[in-house]
Amino acid sequence: MEPGDSSEEPPLPLALERFQLSEEYGSLLPEPLTELPEPYGPWMEIAHDLPELITSHRLRSRVHQMPHLSTRHLHGRKELHLAHLVLSFITMGYLWQEGEEGTVKVLPQNLAVPFWEVSQALGLPPILSHADIVLANWRRKNPNGNLDTIIALPGGESLRGFILVTLLVEKAAVPGFKVGDPCPHSALMKRSMAGLGRVCSMLPAQGLCLQPPHPILCSLPHCCVFLLSWKDNPAMPDGLIYEGVSDEPMEYSGGSAAQSTILHAFDELLGIRHSEESAAFLHRMRGYMPPPHRAFVEEIHRAPSLKQLVLSSGDTRLHEAFNQCVSALVDFRSYHITIVTKYISVAAAKAKAGRAEQGTKAGSSIGKPPSALEAKGTGGSHIFCFLKSIRDTTREGMISA
Ligand code: HEM
Repeated sequence: MEPGDSSEEPPLPLALERFQLSEEYGSLLPEPLTELPEPYGPWMEIAHDLPELITSHRLRSRVHQMPHLSTRHLHGRKELHLAHLVLSFITMGYLWQEGEEGTVKVLPQNLAVPFWEVSQALGLPPILSHADIVLANWRRKNPNGNLDTIIALPGGESLRGFILVTLLVEKAAVPGFKVGDPCPHSALMKRSMAGLGRVCSMLPAQGLCLQPPHPILCSLPHCCVFLLSWKDNPAMPDGLIYEGVSDEPMEYSGGSAAQSTILHAFDELLGIRHSEESAAFLHRMRGYMPPPHRAFVEEIHRAPSLKQLVLSSGDTRLHEAFNQCVSALVDFRSYHITIVTKYISVAAAKAKAGRAEQGTKAGSSIGKPPSALEAKGTGGSHIFCFLKSIRDTTREGMISA
């Protein structure tokens, strides 16, 4: 090969900005806006009152009175993300105000059309996704940096705790994104992997270390109803008609951290291959990421395989460094299973038992954990089979001695 041939030179690191990722915030929207321009006052007023409007069963009538606003006064990515956040929260409240037993088939035009248009502009689905609930839903409470959410739902502290924990994990993963591109020089590659290993092993410590059961998250199942799908959900078997957009019902999955870029990127970087069924669910979840973040994951997938480079180096220290990364990812996934058991399964079963003891009053279905939650997640996966399967296939990604 001739000197200067570009394939001989170390590949350039992935430029994070090209994928709307930042060196400081990773996939989080940097410093999101908290208010929309003046013409959108009616949306903001409803959004700020959501918990109260939902618990008093007045949200649907407020939405019916809401003016049909044009989206043409929205400019730039931050305004569009805030509009998507606001409209997606109003939509979830509108649909699930009466719990799983009182759903509607049609989203009214004054909400459906602007929500559809903003979703098209951002390349996001017209439902509340991880990009809304976590990435665009944070603000600083004070200059010291204490964090809060911008828009809330009933379930106050529990949902807020869940959102902020996930946000901290997003932030902790940022150094891992910077390692995206493996360099063929083994010293650099080793350094990269040591960095990635540290990131993976920090994730549980940073975000999920909520032992013993954290009181804030114990009533999480009660607010999960607002994150549910209208795809493969018996409570909405026909999906949802977006009035003024299409006469045909549409189906979308609910918000889930399975839509976060982090684990998709790490899986691709380490060449982890999941079972067909689990991979199909995870790939579908990529459709719920902002398109530039999805492109980042796909770019890592197309890059030369890190595992092959490590294997062909014949360097046992590199093999070890690689396996430490995979092992940290396995630990993260094992820890995550413990968390889901504690805060979803056990908590939902306890709430059910409590209701059975007290006898549930008719019509009191808000604040009740969704019936499917013990078996299925908000994104619609069969929780434990899925989570254990991907943890086990991650372990299979190790290089054997
Ligand atoms: C109380 C805290 C949490 C609960 C109850 C929870 C619950 C769940 C559930 C039920 C699923 C299955 C997919 C679905 O159907 O939605 C899931 C998947 C997932 N969650 Fe969590 N989660 C929590 C915290 C987190 C955090 C902080 C992260 C970090 C970003 C995270 C990352 C993931 C990922 C990446 C998946 C996809 C599976 C994987 O790739 O390992 N979760 N979660």
